[in-house]
Amino acid sequence: MNILLLGSGGREHALAWKLSQSAKCQQLYIAPGNAGTALCGTNINMSVTDFDAIKQFVLDKQIGMVLVGPEEPLVKGIVDMFRKDAALQQVAIIGPSQYGAQLEGSKAFAKKFMMRHHIPTAKYREFDTTNYEEGIPYLQQHSLPIVLKADGLAAGKGVLICHSHVEAMAEFELMLQQSKFGDAGKKVVVEEFLDGIELSVFVVTDGKHYVLLPEAKDYKRIGEGDTGLNTGGMGAVSPVPFADDAFMKKVIDKVVEPTIKGIAQEKIDYKGFVFVGLIKVGDEPLVIEYNCRMGDPETEVVMPRLKTDLVDLLQATAQGTLDTIKVEKDHRAACTVMAVSGGYPGSYEKGFPIEGLDKPLPADSIVFHAGTTPKEDEVVTSGGRVLCVTSYDDTIGGAVRKSRKVLQQIKFEDMYYRKDIGYEFA
Ligand code: AMP
Ligand code: GLY
Repeated sequence: MNILLLGSGGREHALAWKLSQSAKCQQLYIAPGNAGTALCGTNINMSVTDFDAIKQFVLDKQIGMVLVGPEEPLVKGIVDMFRKDAALQQVAIIGPSQYGAQLEGSKAFAKKFMMRHHIPTAKYREFDTTNYEEGIPYLQQHSLPIVLKADGLAAGKGVLICHSHVEAMAEFELMLQQSKFGDAGKKVVVEEFLDGIELSVFVVTDGKHYVLLPEAKDYKRIGEGDTGLNTGGMGAVSPVPFADDAFMKKVIDKVVEPTIKGIAQEKIDYKGFVFVGLIKVGDEPLVIEYNCRMGDPETEVVMPRLKTDLVDLLQATAQGTLDTIKVEKDHRAACTVMAVSGGYPGSYEKGFPIEGLDKPLPADSIVFHAGTTPKEDEVVTSGGRVLCVTSYDDTIGGAVRKSRKVLQQIKFEDMYYRKDIGYEFA
């Protein structure tokens, strides 16, 4: 089967790497891809939201499956376009409908879904300009810190953790009265702060059945010891030691099953990934967010630990037969360490040549590209997160050491990476 993968990050390189290992994958196209995905298939210069071009490409190249990497095309309704178009109805497209994608695209939608299905989450209230006035006394009496969330997609910047009432009220005003996040912030979810450790749980569902992929933990802050600004993710580990059988049983019983039952009961067209962001508070899992796609950089440890053929898994997802699939996992630990451009997550320069990519790699390390692009005979930086190195080992600490060793042989100007990924488990 010919497959089209949409996206251009480290997540997409890891997905392309895994898809290309399947005997069922004939031609693999990645749009737009990066210098790493070009090693697994053919990059196509096409935007992930240019639905007309995507339709034409799918028909021209007889694509049998489309895997949507990022959330934006899903939130904009790419799956609905495929379902409604007679010429595209036979194509398996992996991802939820526009309605289902609101689990990620609208925090208020996700919260209401969790309330309907009794899924544990932080206490909250929803505000917009019509009940703005009620928000002020609500914030004044709220315990600190206060979490404010712009309802819609805000490029990962829509969550604010406010440590004083003054700050919370100022941000609340900026969001609702001054359109700080544009349309995404027209509605605001005000939520209680959850104090605990985060965990990313990955579910694949066909709308009725589900399977779990290996879990992961992501390191979001730029600085060592989890300090400094939030980023798209500086590294990840899998498995996560505190996610033991007893805890995962709670996650399945209290979160995963009610979520999938909720999707089925509400007849939501959802054939794709549900990424559940959890915080473990005491011994209990609470949901902080749903995403309708895989995580990045979590995918760069999840795919390497997945032994099951990804094309088989996704075909079963599209056909509604996920109950026939058994997920086999690599018993080893995997970690990934992300190398970023100097200045990231603030402003940074692009276009620096990357050296050392041609050096031989140890058998248990893989380089996944994120913000890279081929230029003449070179590969140059083209984003904040540039590339990550994933390694396997019997221990998380050992895997991190292997990735750091590989990173020492890769160089680009102002390259930075955290040396302490997995520090709590080393
Ligand atoms: P999100 O944009 O929903 O991924 O949230 C970004 C980050 O904000 C999460 O990864 C958490 O670290 C943090 N966060 C979100 N909601 C809460 C909450 N209720 N309590 C504590 N931290 C939170
Ligand atoms: N690593 C978090 C995310 O992909 O949203």
